[in-house]
Amino acid sequence: MKAAVRDRFGAPSEVVELRELDAPVPAEGEVLVRVHAASLNIADWYSVVGRPRIARPTTGIFRPRSNRLGTDYAGVVEAVGPGVTTFEPGDEVFGGKDGAYAEYVVADVDRSITPKPASVTFEEAAAVPVAGLTALQALRDQGRLQAGQKVVINGASGGVGTYAVQIAKALGGNVTAVCSAPNVETAHSLGADRVVDYATEDFTRREERYDLMIDIAGTRSWRECTRVLAPDATVVVVGGPRANGLLGPLGHVAGMRLGSIRGSRTMEFFIAKFNKPDMETLRELLESGQVRSVVDRRFAFAEIAAALDYQGEGHPRGKVVLDVSGG
Ligand SMILES: NC(=O)c1ccc[n+]([C@@H]2O[C@H](COP(=O)([O-])OP(=O)(O)OC[C@H]3O[C@@H](n4cnc5c(N)ncnc54)[C@H](OP(=O)(O)O)[C@@H]3O)[C@@H](O)[C@H]2O)c1
Repeated sequence: MKAAVRDRFGAPSEVVELRELDAPVPAEGEVLVRVHAASLNIADWYSVVGRPRIARPTTGIFRPRSNRLGTDYAGVVEAVGPGVTTFEPGDEVFGGKDGAYAEYVVADVDRSITPKPASVTFEEAAAVPVAGLTALQALRDQGRLQAGQKVVINGASGGVGTYAVQIAKALGGNVTAVCSAPNVETAHSLGADRVVDYATEDFTRREERYDLMIDIAGTRSWRECTRVLAPDATVVVVGGPRANGLLGPLGHVAGMRLGSIRGSRTMEFFIAKFNKPDMETLRELLESGQVRSVVDRRFAFAEIAAALDYQGEGHPRGKVVLDVSGG
């Protein structure tokens, strides 16, 4: 099978290539999936360029610990391993698995794979896992958003942001979305009650007071954010700017944590985790039409380096997807 690999850290166009590898074999409790589409996350770009450097003990000090890339995929079950009764060959599925930029992946049926709704395409389903889970866990688990509460989403137009706007609405939130001018219309179409163009209006100077802030872009300090936060508000920090090569988004996370030590507001930071119930929740949200994927650009599998370069520029409108089965 063809798989995207890189043997060293560097610019996507210099280090990423498609290579012929043996297809995996499903073990007990696993299925073999023929991947039709995959999607990109900014974590994939980080993993190719080897940043932030503070993560190198985990990702590899001198060269990558694993040469494989990608997590999000959608495809068709081709074979099932021993003991699998919940899936059968021919089932359309989507999920997350390391090494998903490949023609085949094996997936543990109890963890991160779920049936694809017939109403969504492979590309739309492949767009969901990491970004959708992050948005869901940020709003529901970390932010404990209650119906009627006011939530502001800073960075509402990228992968995580487009799902966060829709899931916040599905949970009954009153949503203010912060994004750039070209994405204002999209944010409205996803259900945002108000949209702030960050180039022309400073959301931290608004009159409104928010019960919850989902901080995806990480562009504002704790002190600035508190100007628009209710006294018992929660800020869930999801990400931050990439400019700091050593710390990446973690520099912003640390600043927010320090800022929150004193005072009545709470700051939460978390790393999204795959689990079966949350994948099922995302499937239901897609099936009911409460959530849809915004697909910005599609790339052929052979154009993987260009797709990573585009993702790395930091301004996708929704998600960037790869057509894996089309070559
Ligand atoms: N904690 C976790 O488990 C977890 C999981 C996934 C991702 N993340 C992190 O979350 C962050 C976003 O991920 P993503 O996948 O959504 O990235 P993405 O798809 O690249 O989107 C980033 C978004 O940030 C917006 N942005 C840039 N500058 C902005 C500004 N000044 N004000 C408001 N928005 C601005 C961009 O919107 P415009 O084009 O409109 O500027 C873009 O849509 C990253 O830092 C990533 O590492 C964390």
